Amino acid sequence: MNITIIGTGYVGLVSGTCFAEFGVNVICVDKDLKKIKNLRNGIIPIYEPGLNELVKKNISQKRLSFETDLKKSLKNTSAIFIAVGTPSKKSDGHADLSYVYEVAEEIARNLKEYAVVVNKSTVPVGTGQKVYDIIKKINPKLDFDVASNPEFLREGSAINDFMRPDRVVIGCKSEKAKNILRELYRPLYLLETPIIFTQRETAELIKYAANSFLAAKITFINEVSDLCEKVGANVSDVSIGIGLDGRIGKKFLHPGPGYGGSCFPKDTLAMVRTAQEAKSPLGLIEHVVKSNNERKKRMHKRVLSAVAKIKEKKIISILGLTFKPNTDDMRDSPSLDIIPALLKNNCFLKVFDPEGMNEAKLCFKDYSKKIKWCKDSYEACEDSNALVILTEWNQFRALDLKRLKKKLKTPIIIDLRNIYNPTELKNMGFEYYSLGRSIV
Ligand code: UGA
Repeated sequence: MNITIIGTGYVGLVSGTCFAEFGVNVICVDKDLKKIKNLRNGIIPIYEPGLNELVKKNISQKRLSFETDLKKSLKNTSAIFIAVGTPSKKSDGHADLSYVYEVAEEIARNLKEYAVVVNKSTVPVGTGQKVYDIIKKINPKLDFDVASNPEFLREGSAINDFMRPDRVVIGCKSEKAKNILRELYRPLYLLETPIIFTQRETAELIKYAANSFLAAKITFINEVSDLCEKVGANVSDVSIGIGLDGRIGKKFLHPGPGYGGSCFPKDTLAMVRTAQEAKSPLGLIEHVVKSNNERKKRMHKRVLSAVAKIKEKKIISILGLTFKPNTDDMRDSPSLDIIPALLKNNCFLKVFDPEGMNEAKLCFKDYSKKIKWCKDSYEACEDSNALVILTEWNQFRALDLKRLKKKLKTPIIIDLRNIYNPTELKNMGFEYYSLGRSIV
């Protein structure tokens, strides 16, 4: 089978590469010529474990190719995936669908034979119908269908999430379209992955509901974590205690400095807007958005209070800048709130992130004189007053704490991901602060 993927961002590139790995012939299209030239040479624009090797392998086995010419890429294709960005509009938080609609127009002008157009971008309910209307208006004689097939990939484990998903969701009415998508996902069907066929609008809503629910789960445990601090309870044990209830589940119950990334902040906001417009407000998710934003904005206060007794200019080490481990993505990362707030409070920062330094340098270019970019965790801790663990990269979980203690001017650790044991750290002579856990 031949398929076309439009948009070589995160979703398009991972999905296209994994479909090629399933044995499908995939053409990935993007307007950005430089990006396409790089991809043809196996140069990947994002950091995603395992993706580089898989792209190279499928290019060499001639199942994966990269194009800028959409017309050429639509010849002989069975399915066309729209995987372009849908950022939040600054003005009102709605998803900006202009890229999706532009692509629909181009498809209408260039597609000559039947294909199913599949929305993989995260789009509000009703977008599939609008895509259908656009194509129908420009090319009324064309035989085509529009389906919704949202993705549930997590950055950092996207290949595994694609190859072994919890479920595949496909929204469309036409049997012809269903058969193509069923065939495309056959390798997953053979692994007994549940494949849910539903209406297009339902599939669109499933994606927003899943991300909003997960964001709510994180916000819940973050708020419970604050409560634990007030009443002397331990949030890690609360997570275990409630997570073992099969109805609740253990995952996404880790407190942190607030969720970030390109999905939860954008999708919760878009869902709130959709619900408000439909006059069926989602008060719970409105609270989640507000609570998470406020959490990120006040996290620096924990650092300042931990170093309050130090009178000289404070030097703070920060380990982890990206919104989560195994990515170089800085979008809506908690570091974007904490770092400027600490700088405004007269701190000098020494920072290190295993993959996110280049992206982070761009984000913090206005503050370059107050930040030292370090080559590793130990250089970042040299002569500083406190260490803040902001992202739980694996390499930060097994730091040589004795060595670290010698490097720090004052042995203070503020662990915003709860990756160390409070009692052990206290016994080693650290002043250790974490989230929602008292020392027992
Ligand atoms: C998220 C969803 O998990 C994917 O299923 C979905 O496909 C994707 O959005 C998307 O819509 O494209 P992602 O943003 O890559 O994936 O990252 P997550 O692993 O979900 O983490 C999001 C944020 O929540 C991170 O800032 C992370 O640190 C935070 N988090 C996660 C917590 O603070 N606590 C947790 O227990 C889990």
